[in-house]
Amino acid sequence: MVERRDDIVGLDSAIILNPAVWRASGHVERFTDPMADCLECRKRWRADDIPQPGICPSCGGKLGEVRQFNTMFTTHVGPVADDSSLAYLRPETAQGIFVNFRNVLDSTRLKIPFGIAQTGKAFRNEITTGNFIFRVREFEQMEMEFFVKPGTDDYWWQYWIDQRVAWWHSIGIKPESLKLRRHEASELSHYSKQTTDIEFEFPFGVKELEGIADRTDYDLKAHIAGSGQDLSYFDDETQERYVPWVVEPAMGIGRAFLALLCDAYAEEDTGKDVRTVLRLSPRMAPYKVAVFPLSANKPELVERARSIYGELRPRWMTAWDARGNVGKRYRSQDEIGTPWCITVDYQTLEDGTVTVRDRDSMVQDRVHQDQLVALFSERLALL
Ligand code: GAP
Repeated sequence: MVERRDDIVGLDSAIILNPAVWRASGHVERFTDPMADCLECRKRWRADDIPQPGICPSCGGKLGEVRQFNTMFTTHVGPVADDSSLAYLRPETAQGIFVNFRNVLDSTRLKIPFGIAQTGKAFRNEITTGNFIFRVREFEQMEMEFFVKPGTDDYWWQYWIDQRVAWWHSIGIKPESLKLRRHEASELSHYSKQTTDIEFEFPFGVKELEGIADRTDYDLKAHIAGSGQDLSYFDDETQERYVPWVVEPAMGIGRAFLALLCDAYAEEDTGKDVRTVLRLSPRMAPYKVAVFPLSANKPELVERARSIYGELRPRWMTAWDARGNVGKRYRSQDEIGTPWCITVDYQTLEDGTVTVRDRDSMVQDRVHQDQLVALFSERLALL
């Protein structure tokens, strides 16, 4: 969004904002989850995790009344911990963008429609966590607030849903693993006119990866009211002044990571055995290539392999492995999703060629070592 587009800029705002921000945005009053306690086993449940109302899913006992629980973490700023020093850790990165809207507008040449994107930590005192890293209390969000002219929000909302689905495909998530789900009116956040979630089929159920919300002019107007600052926009072309509307794609990096792992993980019967392979897109694979000397005990092979490793490493994340036999090294790179492995063998010493083994097909090609940089530049260029 930030590096490949002209109309979006990046921002890194504070985690602890003035608590007035959270009062104005409505989070102090409304950022709550409904919860209920079992009167018998004392377990605490999120209301949406209770299939049978009033009955504890764990012991079958009676549940107490459903109560609203504010999920913002609190802290105190300054030496005295009293009500006047109360502050919150941000539960979304978005508010840091809204309160910096004027700064960005005044310091860039952006014209509406434009976006401000941010990656950073968010904190929520979740009632229940789990499903690996699906729901945690400290997580990394990627959010983008796209400011548009009032009345054009429906267009931009659909535009961003389409863009975001295309992005998930571009990082290698299988199209059939994703589902779009539009929120019912009753489940919309307090700021949203319409929201569609991009959901993923996890082994533990179909769950949200990302939400694309039409936040209207709710937040900017709330901060105008809360701070008295002018957060309106003057359109030079139409000579109109208005408070922009906002379309927001918001996702969690942890969930993206978990979805990538679940989607790419395969146990494949090779005919001889079963290999575990992580079929990550080369774009997402942590290591792009691995370099092996055929034998760790032959200094000429190790030296040649080291020089190839030294050439590739400044360009791409490159792994080195000289342990055990080459078959085991291939398998261990398969497990972490490395798309290509280079082996330096005795033929290399004679004619300068190495084998390049493909993770998915397991086919090995011989390539001259002088061609490796060009080969991987081409394969990794436009991912
Ligand atoms: N600014 C809008 C917003 O925060 P959200 O749906 O509450 O919307 C956006 O959160 C994304 O953040 C979710 O789609 C999810 O990927 C991630 N997320 C939210 N709560 C999370 C948690 N407790 N653990 C991990 N990721 C979480």
